[in-house]
Amino acid sequence: MCGIVGAISQRPVNEILLEGLRRLEYRGYDSAGMAVWDGNKINRLRRAGKVQSLASALLEQPVVGAVGVAHTRWATHGKPTEANAHPHMSGHGLALVHNGIIDNFEPLKEQLIADGVAFSSDTDSEVVAHLVARELERTSGLREAVQAVVEMLDGAFALGVISAAHPDQLVAARKGSPLVIGVGLGGENFIASDQLALLQVTDRFMFLDEGDIALLTQQSIEVWDAAGEPVEHEVISYEHGVTAADKGDFKHYMLKEIYEQPEVVEQTLAGRIANDHLLEQAFGAEAGALFDQVKQVQIIACGTSFHAGMIARYWIEDLVGIPCHVEVASEFRYRTVVIPEGTLFLTISQSGETADTLAALREVKSRVLGCLAICNVPGSSLVRESDLSLMTNAGPEIGVASTKAFTTQLVALMLTTLALGRRNGLTPEREQAIVKALAGLPVLLREALEMDGSIQQMAQAFAEKQHALFLGRGSLYPVAMEGALKLKEISYIHAEAYPAGELKHGPLALVDKDMPVVTVAPRNDMLDKLKANLQEVRARGGELFVFAGCTQSVKAEDGVAVLEVPDIDMLLEPILYTIPLQLLSYHVAVLKGTDVDQPRNLAKSVTVE
Ligand code: M6R
Repeated sequence: MCGIVGAISQRPVNEILLEGLRRLEYRGYDSAGMAVWDGNKINRLRRAGKVQSLASALLEQPVVGAVGVAHTRWATHGKPTEANAHPHMSGHGLALVHNGIIDNFEPLKEQLIADGVAFSSDTDSEVVAHLVARELERTSGLREAVQAVVEMLDGAFALGVISAAHPDQLVAARKGSPLVIGVGLGGENFIASDQLALLQVTDRFMFLDEGDIALLTQQSIEVWDAAGEPVEHEVISYEHGVTAADKGDFKHYMLKEIYEQPEVVEQTLAGRIANDHLLEQAFGAEAGALFDQVKQVQIIACGTSFHAGMIARYWIEDLVGIPCHVEVASEFRYRTVVIPEGTLFLTISQSGETADTLAALREVKSRVLGCLAICNVPGSSLVRESDLSLMTNAGPEIGVASTKAFTTQLVALMLTTLALGRRNGLTPEREQAIVKALAGLPVLLREALEMDGSIQQMAQAFAEKQHALFLGRGSLYPVAMEGALKLKEISYIHAEAYPAGELKHGPLALVDKDMPVVTVAPRNDMLDKLKANLQEVRARGGELFVFAGCTQSVKAEDGVAVLEVPDIDMLLEPILYTIPLQLLSYHVAVLKGTDVDQPRNLAKSVTVE
């Protein structure tokens, strides 16, 4: 949450900062600001609202200079007003941007007020600006001042600081919130919450570790670790194409990302399967020895990634035959958990920076057999802190509503299931059949995308509705959950998912003509049970929207709209049936005129708990 970007260069950096903010806007978009040293003083401009409001204001009142910091905010402390927008300043001499939460800001603020410091915002971040300014009076340099302040702070933060007293320096600190350094090609260097923000100026990055503090000048980058010791970090080149972060001809990132799924699933599989078998080396050299000892799996994730984990539980218990538990990270991390011997701790996260998922990992790491992260961002905290990782290789996902990240997570989870299954009685023939089905998935995903026009029509029935119910059975129940999450997230229609068998235990009371009921009904061994549940809905006047298998698994009739999904291996149905639900929520949101890529109150990367 929140995006920060900073630059120090020989050329003016204001346009670089503004473009960086545009690319980081997915992380938060309720206010934005920029502070730049112009050679004499630090000029700051902030605006409530999206980055575009700031961009328009900058046309009237440009802030120009060669060193600066900028921020796009997702409010935690204080309303999304101009006064609470970053950068925060201490006097006229220091500007600071912060991503994260300072847990102990209240006592620190009280002390500063007692010392005569005046505050102009309700944020926790302003406290840090004043503390750094105070330390700057006592210490020799900006880096030392930031280091002293970091030691006072509890919580999660990524910081970027510039000072009029040291205009040739940009200082960054990272503890609990993401921050990368962009290594410029000569005479300039950068910081940002995410590599995407800096692809306009560099494709070479340095990832900071927890507790690191960095001092950037035009010509140099120095880093100190949490203990204050100098450290060297490798410079890593960005692997995805620069255009991967652009919208192309699509109206929204979400639609582009839905349409990318056949291609990115190919990328997830590339180098991981050959001759109809899993290439286990994909998990790393140590994976085999670890997998040999796994007796159970504990999956932890949030939101959409949690739904992927729920589907994986069906696969693991069915194909591997060992227990698999799945829990949302925000609950798991705060309860007393019993971890049986031989537990593989499997985290799933698109961003690899989700605060609750990371905290859960840190909480149990020393008590489990090993940790495997399924993630889309190489170099993210989750990947670096896990023993093993399998990257989903979906490319940057910009739309706040997760789409291609989810389907590629499912593919990666099926590969994990195969690796564990091999050791637990899954025959080479069965593995071969599943790998073949995985290899054929991109073609079927393309076919499923051809349903788009029909789904766009179907969406009209939802645009005026206040509520919707999603039903599924077996591994399609989490798909229904994901469909409901997508609809509520971007169209603001209240949507709930139920295992269809639970209907008569309560939610059936909600069913009437105003409650559309969406159902995923492939031709599998649960179909007859599901059909009986659908009759319960019809008998109460509920309107059904069914995504069914090609061979007429459910018949269309008055009050029952049926759209056919291509037939697929039963195991992979959850992946394919996700596509029409993504398209449905997208088209409903477009009809409702909501902000599809940046829905209200949300942010892409949830780096606060
Ligand atoms: O980056 P992560 O996968 O850890 O994020 C977890 C959730 O915040 C995320 O999946 C969220 O639910 C999606 N925006 C939903 O579309």
